[in-house]
Amino acid sequence: MTTTLQPVAAVHQQPEKAAATSNVDPVTGRVVTGDRPTGPLHLGHYLGTLANRVRLQEAGVPVIVIIADYQVITDRDETGPLRSRVRNLVAEYLAAGIDPDRSTIFPHSLVPALNQLMLPFLSLVTEAELHRNPTVKAEALAARRSLSGLLLTYPVHQAADILSLRGTVVPVGRDQLPHIELTRLIARRFNARYGAVFEEPVALLSAAPSVLGIDGARMSKTRGNTIPLGAGSDETAAMIRSARTDALRHITFDPIGRPQVANLLTIIGALTGTEPALVAEQIGAGGSAALKSLATEVINEALRGLRGRRLELLADPGYLDGVLLDGTARATATAVETLHSVQRAMGMDYLGEDVPASPPRVPGDASRRH
Ligand code: TRP
Repeated sequence: MTTTLQPVAAVHQQPEKAAATSNVDPVTGRVVTGDRPTGPLHLGHYLGTLANRVRLQEAGVPVIVIIADYQVITDRDETGPLRSRVRNLVAEYLAAGIDPDRSTIFPHSLVPALNQLMLPFLSLVTEAELHRNPTVKAEALAARRSLSGLLLTYPVHQAADILSLRGTVVPVGRDQLPHIELTRLIARRFNARYGAVFEEPVALLSAAPSVLGIDGARMSKTRGNTIPLGAGSDETAAMIRSARTDALRHITFDPIGRPQVANLLTIIGALTGTEPALVAEQIGAGGSAALKSLATEVINEALRGLRGRRLELLADPGYLDGVLLDGTARATATAVETLHSVQRAMGMDYLGEDVPASPPRVPGDASRRH
């Protein structure tokens, strides 16, 4: 089969997605985003959030990526192999084009000043409001366990993530919109009660198409239906081969009637900057076999560079840890400043302007120990 489709070299060249970044001012805009370190990133992340982050970074907007490690235990008891997952995430961010010199990557557990905002913020919301959050409700239902205090309050913690780092723009999926609304509410209430400290951030909905898993259901790590960014070419080919399609010979783009076929067409379209309907036309009578081999070819081609860089980066854990350390230092500087503003506004600035970031050290204290 011959094809005229070529993967676009860089994600930020896709014209249909440029609209998503055009309203973010590189001077005043500050993007805060995040992921839970529950497993490797997949094609859905790449097409959705990752590409958007890189595009914003390239447009000159400061981008802060939070590794939301405390959010891992909102709906499960095990933290999982966090150390390797966090390193892997850093490697995948960098391989996708996040530049650690311009953007900031850090785990929120390492920034105490950020976490401290949780206390005043919790006082600004009611229990009823927390219970009404549709995302929390859906997660509690999916987790099939009783609602933990952390699951109920994690949107408040997410507000702390965003407001602590002075985020003004938060690129999110639709499911995260209630959290951004809550963040705005907390900012408003804090300002009304204690004086203007926070700016209300806005959500930036990705213009990227949302893609399904290879089984035609929602792409999710727990369903095992994703194409991980780090999968090998052969592994990708095998996964696409096993993808569900339908028995109709002629390929058409019909998201309602033929969701699985449409999904592969959408993936090809997004990675090549082509309308999915046009991709369908080009395959036409080639049927599912041609569709799958084109999808495999396009995905492997589009991810080749990323996969190579990912492996190189994973071979150097010291470097990856350095990126985290550096990101943590930068995030801490901003978070401490925000905390000081909060404490000043609340009348907690007992020690004047230089409230220490960590407890004051008593001279000679270390030598007296033992
Ligand atoms: N809750 C987000 C998710 O599950 C991750 C996240 C944590 C986040 N902190 C954030 C996203 C701050 C945006 C901003 O995907």
